[in-house]
Amino acid sequence: MDVVVNEQKYTTYRFLEIEDIKQYVRSLDLFPEPEDIKVIEVSDGKINHVYRLYNEFRSIIFKQAVPYARVVGESMPLPIDRVRVEAEVMALYEKIIPKSVPSVLHLDVVMAVVVMEDMLPLEVGRTALINGSESAHFAADIGKMSAEVLFKTSDFYMPSSDKKELQARLANPEMRQLTEQLVFDWPYSDHETNECEDGMRNEVKFLSQDQRLLLEVAQLKHKFMTKSDGLIHGDLHSGAIFTGENRTVIFDTEFALFGPFGFDLGQFIANLFLNGIAFPEFKEKRFEQAKETWYAFVETFSNLWQNNTNERYTKVDGFYTIIMEEIFTDLIGYAGCELVRRAISIAQIPDMNTEEDEDLRMAARKKVLELGKYMIMERKQIHSLEQLSQWFQASR
Ligand SMILES: Nc1ncnc2c1ncn2[C@@H]1O[C@H](COP(=O)(O)OP(=O)(O)OP(=O)(O)O)[C@@H](O)[C@H]1O
Ligand SMILES: [Mg+2]
Repeated sequence: MDVVVNEQKYTTYRFLEIEDIKQYVRSLDLFPEPEDIKVIEVSDGKINHVYRLYNEFRSIIFKQAVPYARVVGESMPLPIDRVRVEAEVMALYEKIIPKSVPSVLHLDVVMAVVVMEDMLPLEVGRTALINGSESAHFAADIGKMSAEVLFKTSDFYMPSSDKKELQARLANPEMRQLTEQLVFDWPYSDHETNECEDGMRNEVKFLSQDQRLLLEVAQLKHKFMTKSDGLIHGDLHSGAIFTGENRTVIFDTEFALFGPFGFDLGQFIANLFLNGIAFPEFKEKRFEQAKETWYAFVETFSNLWQNNTNERYTKVDGFYTIIMEEIFTDLIGYAGCELVRRAISIAQIPDMNTEEDEDLRMAARKKVLELGKYMIMERKQIHSLEQLSQWFQASR
């Protein structure tokens, strides 16, 4: 990976317009015949500017960060260093699991630019889940990949000092703080950024007054802030994954940091649940996929635990069970938080908003909220996903 390339004209950060981008990329020697490069903007997220650059020989993705969230504007400042984190984390994933991310072709930390492999014709996971076109191995792949990355960046695998150094490089403090606000604070404080139909305002207000719920969210947030089990993606929703027959790919790693083992899987499984609740024809399938994710995670994690560790205490009877139970409880809690925030916060997703009938849309949102609260409150009593099966029966 080309870590920093700065020709003289790119020594100070500035936002690059389309013509600048073409010129910038021509200097990188990525294209044969770079004169006829075409550029289209493909940004569909909320944070960065993303473009496809192509000619008849090649197609690549060019992503530039602005010092704030693109769709919100300067009132939500964000560090441009997130691009370095994104590229370094992708490079690390690639090292641990080849082809698990788009390959990074170029990183420029001054201009906050990352250039990467174009994943077309793979489909973004969220679109695939809405269309029902995800691969049969999509969910299990995510379980396996998560286990591999988490285990191999944890103290069960990395030498202690190497892990602490990596952790410091990927501290990602401002993005971490944004996650804390987006996931744990704003949905539970009747915040101005919350979004939902007017008919649900009371439910949203009540979230900020429900002391029993707040006590549980407080613990989940505290654990997110203080526990550094392994490298987590930090935003592993279905829109941060590509799916195809031959390859499942994770991307958009700008929120990555060291956090609790159960966080990513919780978010991923919650996004399966959300899709199943919004599209009842997929309800049972999404529940099955959630189980596939978890089983694949357990299989990979336990294999690594048995065969690929130097940590002496992994041999102590009972320790594995303690760790797995904790991961599962956290997964359920963090999935609950993801359900709540996707139902009523600024982090709206197409799954929850494609239904045109307001009553039906609101009914789905209420159901997601109800399940989310249940999972947060009851997580210590939930010991298997099967215990949630009644929420995903076709008749409900
Ligand atoms: N490597 C890639 N190959 C093909 N398409 C890509 C690639 N990276 C990004 N895209 C497209 O650009 C869109 C936006 O990318 P991405 O999610 O990385 O941007 P973002 O601004 O960081 O989004 P978010 O607000 O979710 O953080 C993706 O949904 C996808 O359609
Ligand atoms: Mg992003």
